[in-house]
Amino acid sequence: MSNPSREIPIISVEDAMVHFPVKQSLSQYIKGEPKKFIQALNGVRLEITRGETLGIVGESGCGKSTLARTLVGLETATDGRVRFKGQDIAELRGHQRRSFNRQVQMIFQDPYGSLNPRMTVGQMLKEALSVHHVLPKKGIPARIRELMTLVRLPADAIDKYPHEFSGGQRQRIGISRALAVEPEVLVADELVSALDVSVQAQVVNLLLDLQQKLSLTVLFVAHDLRLVRHISHRVAVMYLGEVVEVGNTETLYETPLHPYTQALLRAAPTLDPADRGKNVSLTGELPSPLAPPSGCRFHTRCPKATDLCRVERPILAVKSSGLKVACHWA
Ligand SMILES: Nc1ncnc2c1ncn2[C@@H]1O[C@H](COP(=O)(O)OP(=O)(O)OP(=O)(O)O)[C@@H](O)[C@H]1O
Ligand SMILES: [Mg+2]
Repeated sequence: MSNPSREIPIISVEDAMVHFPVKQSLSQYIKGEPKKFIQALNGVRLEITRGETLGIVGESGCGKSTLARTLVGLETATDGRVRFKGQDIAELRGHQRRSFNRQVQMIFQDPYGSLNPRMTVGQMLKEALSVHHVLPKKGIPARIRELMTLVRLPADAIDKYPHEFSGGQRQRIGISRALAVEPEVLVADELVSALDVSVQAQVVNLLLDLQQKLSLTVLFVAHDLRLVRHISHRVAVMYLGEVVEVGNTETLYETPLHPYTQALLRAAPTLDPADRGKNVSLTGELPSPLAPPSGCRFHTRCPKATDLCRVERPILAVKSSGLKVACHWA
């Protein structure tokens, strides 16, 4: 796998915050209780390099989907910004906005929910191609056939409806629709989590193949650490709305520096039977994003935590292995 890491970032996330207001009850409102916010992203700093696959991992609720949605413009950063090719995406209007919407595509976990049940695959792709004026009208049928070949679906899939396909095939349709508009960036949130393991591999290998063939930039969000290792050039580990460690996949998996990454990798099921049972999983519950811990957010579960960790938030810093880590003791 070539490593495109020396190139300039296509997307940069600069101290992005996303805080969701929590609905107040009438009595809370009358009592004048302060409004509460879920801190889904808390100052995320991240760069995505053109042509790379960046994996995002972390426990449920740590903000992976919020980050993915913020990158494609489905959520707006309450503070900080996301830049696409240098431009703040919150400032894009008109033609620039439409161009961004075409260039950065999201593929959803369950494409069944996002595929129109009354449209055949061909009609759906035709619509996507027409809306974005990707090519002249007369070229559309040929392009649709090319797309089917690209995602390895049979040509007769064009005239079928979403319900006529298996889960893995529907994911291919979702991918073909995203690719129809020739995007530069694909954001895949739990793309294969709902599929059988055997089908997962097929869809992931298809994505890997397409990424290389089309030089796509891919953000791959998933729970499955092995899958993420297989597909990603780099991986970012999130904890309670923050990126705590990021860097080259092999370095991160072989020599993780953040105690959270270490615990997360230990907790993951291993393939080697000799290793099973030795692993201690993460202890304690994930704290509430409504009232996250002070200082380092991981300190309540960290075996290395000291007084410093309880008061001072560690910032991401590059270590000698090249990994960036936010930990006072890494
Ligand atoms: N629209 C919303 N309104 C209010 N809170 C939200 C909203 N979206 C997400 N959250 C909250 O923000 C936090 C982060 O959620 P997010 O879905 O980004 O996590 P995740 O890492 O994708 O989790 P999972 O692995 O379960 O998909 C959670 O506490 C979640 O409840
Ligand atoms: Mg999610």
